[in-house]
Amino acid sequence: MKPLYVLVLAAGQGSRMKSTLPKVLHPVAGRPMLEHVLVASRDLHPKEMALVLGVGREAVRKTLDDRGWKKLVHIFQPEPKGSGHAVLMARPWLKTRKGHLLIVYGDTPLLNPVTLKRLCDDHADSGRAATFLAMDVHDPSGYGRMVLDPTGDLERIVEDKDATPDEKALTLVNSGVACWDIALLADVLPRLKADNAKHEYYLTDAVALLRAGGARVGVVTVKDSGETQGVNTRIDLAKAEALWRRRILERWMLAGVTIVDPDSTYIDAEALLSADSRLWPGTIIQGASRIGAGCEIGPYTIVEDSEIHDGARVGPFARVRPGSVIGKNARIGNFVETKKVLVGEGSKVNHLTYLGDAQLGRDVNIGAGTITCNYDGFGKYRTVIEDSVFVGSNSNLVAPVRLGKGAIIAAGSTITGDVPAEALAVARTPQVVKPAWARTFRERQKEKKHGKHA
Ligand code: UD1
Ligand code: CA
Repeated sequence: MKPLYVLVLAAGQGSRMKSTLPKVLHPVAGRPMLEHVLVASRDLHPKEMALVLGVGREAVRKTLDDRGWKKLVHIFQPEPKGSGHAVLMARPWLKTRKGHLLIVYGDTPLLNPVTLKRLCDDHADSGRAATFLAMDVHDPSGYGRMVLDPTGDLERIVEDKDATPDEKALTLVNSGVACWDIALLADVLPRLKADNAKHEYYLTDAVALLRAGGARVGVVTVKDSGETQGVNTRIDLAKAEALWRRRILERWMLAGVTIVDPDSTYIDAEALLSADSRLWPGTIIQGASRIGAGCEIGPYTIVEDSEIHDGARVGPFARVRPGSVIGKNARIGNFVETKKVLVGEGSKVNHLTYLGDAQLGRDVNIGAGTITCNYDGFGKYRTVIEDSVFVGSNSNLVAPVRLGKGAIIAAGSTITGDVPAEALAVARTPQVVKPAWARTFRERQKEKKHGKHA
């Protein structure tokens, strides 16, 4: 088998997004659009993947780098002169490689790896110069139309703006995805011309050139399932988001997760869940979160880049911010916010609490209204709460501070120093009781009032 390479075109301007962020970085299901294309392509185990980027390439490069995509070949297209020109910029890279090349567009986040594989296999088996992924659509406007010869091979592609009325009526269109023989493609690239309505070098013109040279070009057809939909506007972006969301929710439901109301549940592409967990309405699982088995999440709860271990309950109305680890069978209740917190097994944080930069042991009980005061306007400080500590309601824990194993904090305390194991700490003003004061006060007030009227 000849090796497979992937080339992703992402140098277009994306001007219809009306955004300072490069189009391919707009997130879909919590992941930059371009990364969806990379993830789908990577499934085919290509020998190498390359990316054509234009202006704004630094931002794209940095994002991909930060997200662990270190091995990509970056190719620069200084001016967006068309998809054919973008591939021409990759020609020096192609000239030193042999095999097949899968070309995909960076703005098609719904591509399914199974379809890509079907296309590449069909191409490799057929010995054609190129094989395009075509789709039959209801409304072909905007797309390149596929003109087939009587044998069903592809004769040429005519772009929307250059099509005659007869050609415009064709409903078989170019998805943009195609698999090429590298040597034949590299040969034909310098012969592309920009003599068309958009004055661009169309990659699609390579089809007619290859055919003129006696090579065969074919199509593999997919149903218009939405997977080849490109994102050009924010309306398309919302459609892509909805399709991806449905895909993710169905994946997890089939894996044994109960999603009570799919219409109000959002799970990012990177998140992993386990069987017999139940997500109540309004649950949002973001980033690379991990949800164990038998958890109850929600209603109306956000979990972001955090871990929830088996049997834990989070919500209703909880906000679990990045870096939180909620231990086995632990409870995070209503109006609780956590950030960079380790909550040990079986610990309870049931109501109205903020825990930041803290570590809780096992079987800790945090009373309602407890706040870790972790920030002094300059630095962040840690709170350590050892096993079986009981923190009374409405306490402030001023970090850095450590509460020793089994300690009890009296309700309403402001704790500024470490508390030894098994100790009681009370840090509030002592109560003053004045017997009968209230009654005397009321009587005096009444006298004053009646006195005035008299
Ligand atoms: C393209 C196809 C069309 C197909 C449609 C599917 C061409 C000429 N036409 O049209 O047949 O039906 O996609 O959605 O290819 N790009 C660059 N550099 C450039 C220009 C474009 O890298 O100079 C990249 C874009 O980032 C994008 C891709 O190429 O990823 C396609 O370009 P675009 O201008 O969106 O082509 P369409 O008009 O959508
Ligand atoms: Ca497009």
